[in-house]
Amino acid sequence: MTISSSIKPVRKAVFPVAGLGTRFLPATKAIPKEMLPIIDRPLIQYAVDEAREAGIEQLIFVTGRGKTAIVEHFDTAFELEATMTGRGKSLTALEPSRIQPGNLVTVRQQVPLGLGHAIWCARAIIGNDPFAIFLPDELMIGTPGCMKQMVDAYNQVGGNFVSVLEVPRDEVSSYGVIAPGARPEGFDGTLTEVKGLVEKPKKEEAPSNLIVSGRYILQPEVIDILTTQEKGAGGEIQLTDAMAKLIGNQPFHAVTFGGKRYDCGSKTGFVEATLALALERPDMADEVRAVAKRLLGL
Ligand code: G1P
Repeated sequence: MTISSSIKPVRKAVFPVAGLGTRFLPATKAIPKEMLPIIDRPLIQYAVDEAREAGIEQLIFVTGRGKTAIVEHFDTAFELEATMTGRGKSLTALEPSRIQPGNLVTVRQQVPLGLGHAIWCARAIIGNDPFAIFLPDELMIGTPGCMKQMVDAYNQVGGNFVSVLEVPRDEVSSYGVIAPGARPEGFDGTLTEVKGLVEKPKKEEAPSNLIVSGRYILQPEVIDILTTQEKGAGGEIQLTDAMAKLIGNQPFHAVTFGGKRYDCGSKTGFVEATLALALERPDMADEVRAVAKRLLGL
């Protein structure tokens, strides 16, 4: 796909991973929630794989205390590799966790002031470039991946993007919600103009039932807005409020992801993702299906 010469490619991605993961205690007492595995890959690995598929090179982790295991995961494990090689074992299983030297950067979010604040903490690394954001709790599975689908659209129209999906009206108050505008032609109806954005609106005040689902492409100007952004919903500095101020000044679109989304921030979502992915894996699908049938008494 050709990229319009005035559109800067997206090469950087920010992963806010400073959260405490209290919903999964005690599992997350000593292990970051992003390291909990879905089968044999930690949750963060799926987001990183999705980023790479979309052509992203530099990974910026916004971390906090107790989160070093995430960085270890993407480091070279010299002793492990040397031992495995010495024993004639294949290193293929380690392949996804390799990062090009210099392409992993961490910054610390020292106080939990919200998603907007987490992104602002990465400002020195973002610099003057467009950047993607991945909320790793949202596991997005599809071909192409969610971010690849967004980057393909971005390369044609530029500006800012969020991924959206429809939820029942009763659930909108847990999310950022868009006010949808026109649907530009040529994108199979998956691209929608964004006319407004509200964080965690009351059901009756929500502009639609299209929620922001954890993937963003933003222009660096959002950082200037975040610098003076006041606290919003939940007393936190909200990314949604800062993004809303870009509307009217820069193009802003939503992409409806064609694949599946699992909310791994909830325990049920985590179990669902594990089961769904296991049922897709050629090396275990048959066995898992048989187990599931037995457990369900089918
Ligand atoms: C955050 C965002 C919200 C978005 C959601 C997706 O909310 O603020 O706009 O819809 O992620 O998971 P949080 O889940 O941190 O409350």
